[in-house]
Amino acid sequence: MNTRIFLFVPLVLLLLVGCSEPNRRPSLTGLPDTGEPALHALNDSRLRELMDRMNNVMFDRFKTQPELDQERDIYARKMAATATELGSAVDTILTRMPALNLAEGEQTAFRGLAKKLRDEANTLRDQTAHRQFDAIPAPLDQITLTCSSCHQLFRKLKP
Ligand code: HEC
Repeated sequence: MNTRIFLFVPLVLLLLVGCSEPNRRPSLTGLPDTGEPALHALNDSRLRELMDRMNNVMFDRFKTQPELDQERDIYARKMAATATELGSAVDTILTRMPALNLAEGEQTAFRGLAKKLRDEANTLRDQTAHRQFDAIPAPLDQITLTCSSCHQLFRKLKP
């Protein structure tokens, strides 16, 4: 019992000292760097995993509105760039078509799906450019469907 108190008191003192230092106070954007451990440097991967998960839950929830806005801006810009790239990739897909030895009807289907992909990529690009974020999931789902449709018709999975 006594030994526990002996351990406990210095621990509380340590915490008090730590809290009184202004630059070590936790902020809303993350935990402060506490430097070298004072008592015992634990090394346990499961504990670390748990801590990481806790960290994500904590600081995702406490992100400030400007931070969230900024993240959304970055996300939107990435999405717009990706959509633009996707659109021009379709041109490359179409230049490959003659080499694929498709029958006429197959060519029509292939070209149709490629064009559909380009239209959907353009829609996505325009929506992100106009900051219509709520509308993003719909063209994304459409694009995924178009990818799969073409693969179902034309892509043979390698064994
Ligand atoms: C117009 C038809 C068509 C569309 C649309 C299409 N694909 Fe494909 N894709 C193919 C074909 C055909 C292959 C197989 C090529 C081969 O194995 O030679 C392929 C292969 C792939 C592969 C495998 C590449 C590899 O190295 O084996 C990936 C990944 C892929 N497509 C992703 C996508 C994604 C993501 C989309 C949508 C954004 C998409 N594709 C849309 C026709 C299409």
